[in-house]
Amino acid sequence: MANEGVAAERAVKAPPPETESIVWREDKGRFQTPDGEAFLQYRLLDGRGAPAAAVMDLVHTYVPRSKRGQGLAARLCDAAFAHAQARGMRVLPTCSYISDTYLPRNPALKELVDKDQEPHPKPSSM
Ligand code: COA
Repeated sequence: MANEGVAAERAVKAPPPETESIVWREDKGRFQTPDGEAFLQYRLLDGRGAPAAAVMDLVHTYVPRSKRGQGLAARLCDAAFAHAQARGMRVLPTCSYISDTYLPRNPALKELVDKDQEPHPKPSSM
């Protein structure tokens, strides 16, 4: 009985997916949910004549099926764009979700998009 009460309390307190915090994993080149199941993978590119890592190439966004359609990918993108903006970096929207859905819904962020870079092929593992 007592255990049921604790479980119920945990269930109430467990955050719904849309309020999960986003974590920056510099070692993995990712923004992700704490459990790592949903993530935005990036790689850093040299800017032309600019300091190294002037461009953040947003390569791939992934959200498990059970959590899709709740804006979780958008929140991963929010974190990545805020990160780039705070560091004076530009972004490359290689991921189709970002170029076709996220940016059209957040037009103010288009000014961060790097227009000088040639399109980069995705790494073969993506
Ligand atoms: N390209 C562009 N837009 C996409 C898309 C894609 N590949 N997949 C889904 N979308 C759109 C949906 O049509 C939906 O539109 P709606 O709001 O009008 O219904 C919108 O994204 C949902 O946005 P959001 O809730 O923020 O995204 P999500 O948390 O459901 O995650 C993906 C979206 C793409 C990350 C998820 O569907 C996924 O992991 N797919 C498999 C991997 C993939 O294709 N990644 C993108 C290419 S790198």
